[in-house]
Amino acid sequence: MTILVVHGPNLDRLGKREPDIYGRATLADVDARLVALGAELGVRVVTFQSNWEGALIDRVHAAADEGVRGIVINPGGLTHTSVALRDALLSVALPFVEVHLSNVHAREPFRRHSYFSDAAVGVVCGFGATSYELGLRGLLGCAAPELTTGEES
Ligand code: DQA
Repeated sequence: MTILVVHGPNLDRLGKREPDIYGRATLADVDARLVALGAELGVRVVTFQSNWEGALIDRVHAAADEGVRGIVINPGGLTHTSVALRDALLSVALPFVEVHLSNVHAREPFRRHSYFSDAAVGVVCGFGATSYELGLRGLLGCAAPELTTGEES
């Protein structure tokens, strides 16, 4: 079973970008932790980052065609602006979890609105890279409950 992790714009700069807010872990560190956690939980984790909205949309569409079972997504700044990326997620009808490194509710007011939260299985924010790991665990509980209850898939 495969889970896709999607990182939006500017997340390729993790580790260098505003480290007081986003931490010092790089995107490669975050991805490696997720792949390792996936292996521990019995799922294949594939990751994708782009600074281009259209590339993110194309990757979400491709996920459905590849048989991906769920998506963990940090849409970055597109969280607050992108109807199109939201529509892409709805178009593939895959369960997804929205994650953020920072606590978006404790920052500028414009970060409090998300185009994704109401359609997400759940939302995790404020725990740095651990937000992604919590998101993956939560998603598996929904997309593949057999992995968390011990039943056969
Ligand atoms: C972010 C929060 C967004 O508001 C911001 O635009 C990002 C990163 C986070 O992970 O905390 O790019 O999604």
